[in-house]
Amino acid sequence: MRVLGIETSCDETAASVVDDLNILSNVVSSQAIHKKYGGIVPEFASREQIRALTPIVESALVEAKSSFEDIDGIAVTCGPGLAGSLLTGLNFAKGISLASNKKYIAVNHLEGHLFANRLSDTNLKPPFVFLLISGGHTQLIHVKDWGDYAVLGSTLDDAVGEAYDKVAKMLGLGYPGGPEIDRLAQKGDPSFEHFPRALLGKGYDFSFSGIKTSVLYYLKKQEDGFVEEHLEDISASFQGAVVELLTKKAIEAAKFLNIDKIAVGGGVSANSTLREELNSKSEAVGIKTYFPPISLTTDNGAMIAAVGAYYLEKGKSSSLTMNVYPNLGIEDATD
Ligand SMILES: Nc1ncnc2c1ncn2[C@@H]1O[C@H](COP(=O)(O)OP(=O)(O)OP(=O)(O)O)[C@@H](O)[C@H]1O
Ligand SMILES: [Mg+2]
Repeated sequence: MRVLGIETSCDETAASVVDDLNILSNVVSSQAIHKKYGGIVPEFASREQIRALTPIVESALVEAKSSFEDIDGIAVTCGPGLAGSLLTGLNFAKGISLASNKKYIAVNHLEGHLFANRLSDTNLKPPFVFLLISGGHTQLIHVKDWGDYAVLGSTLDDAVGEAYDKVAKMLGLGYPGGPEIDRLAQKGDPSFEHFPRALLGKGYDFSFSGIKTSVLYYLKKQEDGFVEEHLEDISASFQGAVVELLTKKAIEAAKFLNIDKIAVGGGVSANSTLREELNSKSEAVGIKTYFPPISLTTDNGAMIAAVGAYYLEKGKSSSLTMNVYPNLGIEDATD
């Protein structure tokens, strides 16, 4: 089945053509304008997406050497995300569905981050534990089957990507901060400073506001020039604390469920220390880890097309009355 996937839940405008889990094209356009403000300005995001959608979808089709005639269906994100951005993508998909007389299906963005793993490793089969770590979410999810999920724990405050972006801002780095902190951390000493790890007892919830505040107070008490001089060590110390938490909780959840597979998805799954640590610590206890390629960690249309194909193949599709769901959870149903 050949599906066109469209993703506009945040500041990206992305489109992709996927054919039976083969990615024929994957075009992503990120908006530079938000860098100036150190975060996403929702109104700018949706206005830019209105401009970008037609050329991005055209490029995805051209790159896949496809036309609308070759497409079996259209998949589009309906939530969670920014309402204006989601509406832009959803209405665009409804329009081309009507014009081309192809079925369309509205897709959960979080399920998209999960399906990035299905796309990258077709051997991955449920049940497994899914660690979802992105700009808006930090969750441990029991994937009982594709489409059947139970949330084991979530962040009580900041998402891990959000904590990265806020700490990066404190360090005077650009937006998004995750890749930059990760790059600096590679050259730093993780034992330089011990930042607190909020383990919150034995459960699977997370908290990242404490570590963020402790970095803030730590930076405030330093003399002029110290932070600039030790950017790499501070980044490595922050990253070490975050990775230790994520690794510990993910492995505990897998052990609790007696499951020997952990898949990871979302922007923070690109993190190099996490990839190394989770791999080696899991392997030591007989658990296999799955990470998507870097290109499928942040928002993209291929993961949306993969979810769409799964449900379209089961005979599902969405109606033209479908709405957007800015606060959609991975367990939630849509219309
Ligand atoms: N190498 C990295 N290390 C740590 N964080 C990273 C890395 N690369 C990207 N990130 C972080 O990933 C986040 C973006 O991920 P993603 O695009 O999945 O989030 P989102 O789509 O905005 O949120 P959600 O999927 O929850 O709606 C940003 O916070 C960014 O800093
Ligand atoms: Mg995302």
